[in-house]
Amino acid sequence: GFCGLLKKIVMFIVIAVAYLIQMLIGGTIPLREVVITFYICNEALSLLENAAVFVPIPERLKDVLLQSLSVQVCYWGGISPTETGQRMFPVCSRGRESAFNENERVIHTMKQFKRYLVTSALPYANGPVHIGHLAGVYIPSDIYTRYLRLRGADVISVCGSDEHGVPITIKARKEGVTPQQIVDRYHNMIKKSFEGLGMSFDIYSRTTSPVHHKTASDFFRTLYEKGEFIEQTSEQYYDPESKQFLADRYIVGTCPHCQNERAYGDQCEKCGSTLNPTDLINPKSAITGATPVLRETKHWFLPLDKHEAFLRKWILEDHKEWKSNVYGQCKSWLDLGLQPRAVSRDLDWGIPVPVEGAEGKVLYVWFDAPIGYISATKELTPDWEKYWKDEETKMVHFIGKDNIVFHCIVFPSMLQAHGGYI
Ligand code: 2FM
Ligand code: ZN
Repeated sequence: GFCGLLKKIVMFIVIAVAYLIQMLIGGTIPLREVVITFYICNEALSLLENAAVFVPIPERLKDVLLQSLSVQVCYWGGISPTETGQRMFPVCSRGRESAFNENERVIHTMKQFKRYLVTSALPYANGPVHIGHLAGVYIPSDIYTRYLRLRGADVISVCGSDEHGVPITIKARKEGVTPQQIVDRYHNMIKKSFEGLGMSFDIYSRTTSPVHHKTASDFFRTLYEKGEFIEQTSEQYYDPESKQFLADRYIVGTCPHCQNERAYGDQCEKCGSTLNPTDLINPKSAITGATPVLRETKHWFLPLDKHEAFLRKWILEDHKEWKSNVYGQCKSWLDLGLQPRAVSRDLDWGIPVPVEGAEGKVLYVWFDAPIGYISATKELTPDWEKYWKDEETKMVHFIGKDNIVFHCIVFPSMLQAHGGYI
């Protein structure tokens, strides 16, 4: 339609101007500028569509704001000079979508926060950061943090590498090196990229840091001692050759529905059906090719259903201003009914489950990663508690699309179960 055409024309002009500038200055445009241009472009487009609720920049702030092109984007994109009351506001999704919630453009509350904690999704240390990460998460969080600082806010921005999880062990095995060598390589590479791009994190930590190991381990212990977990034994596929339990993704076999021979233990990409590893015909380990055998194993589960009432009120009633796709995804999760979720894995890479009889088991990567935000804050300042345990702190998460459930449902349930966190 007309809007689509208009979008294309604007996009074309922006790109043409960028090229023109590039030709005139005879060099290459630094990546950061390109990303910001891309970002402004996206935001400007959504602004055109929402021209009716455009928020003019207050005269008083104009001068300060004009010093930084990036900051204007916040206004265009809708981060308002006043804040709506919330503890957590997952604003971003990786990819091409507009980073901010449209509703945020309509300013109606004046709730002020004493301080801000900005978190950016910890990138996996199994590859370099790419432009999708930058445009979707890191540049927006950087802009937002700078904007708050210009306003004189007490703000800290934390990030770091996510260094656990199965894919890192697989990559290490393939290359014949240790998982530690893999994460060292990519942690340094990612850290350098962020430095080169001039990111404004106050700390860029990593989940293999000793502080993080202790923090995540203690967190698990607290929940364990409070009886917040359910223990469950089940049968899972075990690879006798590599002597390890196999994550669903690492079991391949024939799909019972469409006979595709390369279906995974969690789903068949040919016919789209969701699978259990035991549904596969002729299952094989994707790591060694061996035929896996079923073995009993015990795991700890966080009963998300126990926190449903809290989540329903906190999300559905108190956070209607979240981005619509975030809100919608949470609502559908809640309406489908929450299930207990395993927070441990059979793996030899990660933070050991700190209870007796848990040899060979580690914390699930998505259990320890968000705790990484807490550890990073601890590493940054002895005053870390005021950023985590004070009602007057607003926490803002910048996350990827596929991170929504962990930040909006699982992590809040963890904090709730722990107690002592806002
Ligand atoms: O999707 C990812 O890249 C994850 N490593 C994000 C983790 S966010 C947080 F919980 F640490
Ligand atoms: Zn299939």
